[in-house]
Amino acid sequence: MAGRVEGKVAFVTGAARGQGRSHALRLAQEGADIIAVDILEDIDSNHYPLSTPADLDETVRQIEALDRRIVAYKGDVREPSQLRAAVEKGVAELGHLDLVIANAGICPLGADVPAQGFLDAVQVDLVGVINAVSAALPHLKAGASIVCTGSVAGLMAGGTDNPENGPGGAGYSHAKRGVARFVHDLALQLAPHSIRVNAVHPTNVNTNMLMSQPMYDVFRPDLEHPTREDAEQAFPAMQPMPIGYVEPVDISNAVLYLASDEARYVTGLQLKVDAGALLASTTSGAPA
Ligand SMILES: NC(=O)c1ccc[n+]([C@@H]2O[C@H](COP(=O)([O-])OP(=O)(O)OC[C@H]3O[C@@H](n4cnc5c(N)ncnc54)[C@H](O)[C@@H]3O)[C@@H](O)[C@H]2O)c1
Repeated sequence: MAGRVEGKVAFVTGAARGQGRSHALRLAQEGADIIAVDILEDIDSNHYPLSTPADLDETVRQIEALDRRIVAYKGDVREPSQLRAAVEKGVAELGHLDLVIANAGICPLGADVPAQGFLDAVQVDLVGVINAVSAALPHLKAGASIVCTGSVAGLMAGGTDNPENGPGGAGYSHAKRGVARFVHDLALQLAPHSIRVNAVHPTNVNTNMLMSQPMYDVFRPDLEHPTREDAEQAFPAMQPMPIGYVEPVDISNAVLYLASDEARYVTGLQLKVDAGALLASTTSGAPA
């Protein structure tokens, strides 16, 4: 039986680990080839490690184990020329481009983060999404699908932008609200070309971003040095459903649907995979 995205080529940012790797794998399981980009180095204002070359190698290994093709590229989503180079290399090798999964992100939380953290979050989480779409657009044809990763933090009031989360937290919320608006407005522009644009908005996801000291500090402000075990007790407060977080594949399944032709007339959707988190919160006013 043909896969749900058989024969398509997907450009995935932040593909070395976490949700990005999971999206690449889920799409490859359903017949897609992959153009994978990741920074493979740290960003100073972001106080947990980003991916390594070994992480991207592991993504390559897992995709190839599925007998799919992958072009892997070290690139920073803040740098348009690097994304253009990755896409051009990928299209030259894989033949075409059909899907864009603009997923790469940082979350530079912490009262000790400098003001630069605001700009870094916006540059990666919003401008990086715009850069990924910009690099891909010249190659996209009717039937293409763009999926951008937002966050429930961008849609709820007082998400990461509480003052105690510092400028990076404010930048994160700003960027994710921007992603929601960008998706809404771009979807209208690309609809006449039969190119779809949608957002996924995850709640807590079981990745390195969530399982990091800055995040533990946010979830357990009552403790001086909270551990993962301490944070695990606080994570469920985000979701009315009785869980602390979802798994990357839960987001990948939403991405797969939006990428596939099953969603051929779905565009401009803000798809929340949040175990009810936004039902229990007031919204920020961003499209939800
Ligand atoms: N984990 C969560 O709880 C959660 C919740 C809501 C939304 N999100 C969003 O999901 C997306 C994926 O995050 P994740 O949970 O997989 O975390 P993660 O930290 O495991 O993965 C993020 C990936 O993006 C890469 N990256 C960061 N900056 C980059 C840059 N400038 N250029 C290229 N690559 C870069 C990292 O190296 C890493 O591989 C992000 O946009 C994040 O904001 C995460």
